Amino acid sequence: MSKRKSMGIQHSMCVQPVFLIGTYDEDGNVNFAPITWVSVTWDTDHFMLVISMFGSKKTKLNVIKTKQLSANLVSTNMLYLVDYFGSNSRNKGIKDKKSYDYSNGEVLHVPTLDLSKWVYECEVKKTVQTGDSHTFFCDIKNVQIDNYIDISDGIDLTLFDPVVYSGHYHSIGKHLGKIGDYIKAD
Ligand SMILES: Cc1cc2nc3c(=O)[nH]c(=O)nc-3n(C[C@H](O)[C@H](O)[C@H](O)COP(=O)(O)O)c2cc1C
Repeated sequence: MSKRKSMGIQHSMCVQPVFLIGTYDEDGNVNFAPITWVSVTWDTDHFMLVISMFGSKKTKLNVIKTKQLSANLVSTNMLYLVDYFGSNSRNKGIKDKKSYDYSNGEVLHVPTLDLSKWVYECEVKKTVQTGDSHTFFCDIKNVQIDNYIDISDGIDLTLFDPVVYSGHYHSIGKHLGKIGDYIKAD
């Protein structure tokens, strides 16, 4: 018999990455906000990023208008930006109390955070609305990664030091191997 207990449906537990989503508004003002409802799917020949946002946050309004965004992977040294950008909305004023450097994308007109070690430049291909939330299916138009990280043999997440989120912030532990390593060990 399992040792679990039923908790109702008001909790969500999903081990999530943290991205800071970068957008420009219609006047060219830059904005960043943390979004953790981020996943990937596959089109016929390329990966797509799937990003979900609720309410009427400025980031969501910007994405609906411009159809473009950057998704900047958050490493542990970027948590001060997550807390700041996540507890202030651009709808209530410019977020300029923390300093940070950003550059325009290499391929799209999107703001990208210089601190991030993995950046997607994305264009929205399809939007699905469910109640108060919009989920954006985005074509990935470019990926930028840290100059000093080599991914030719696959992605070792420890090198990116990502923040893992499920209501609280965590860092990741050990690199445990690749697909197939555990079959060989049998
Ligand atoms: C750790 C963290 C994760 C968040 N994840 C999401 C998310 O996945 N989707 C969402 O709609 N809002 C999310 N938020 C809330 C927005 O980041 C927050 O509302 C932000 O202030 C919006 O800023 P903006 O109005 O300038 O876009 C998250 C906030 C934090 C701190």
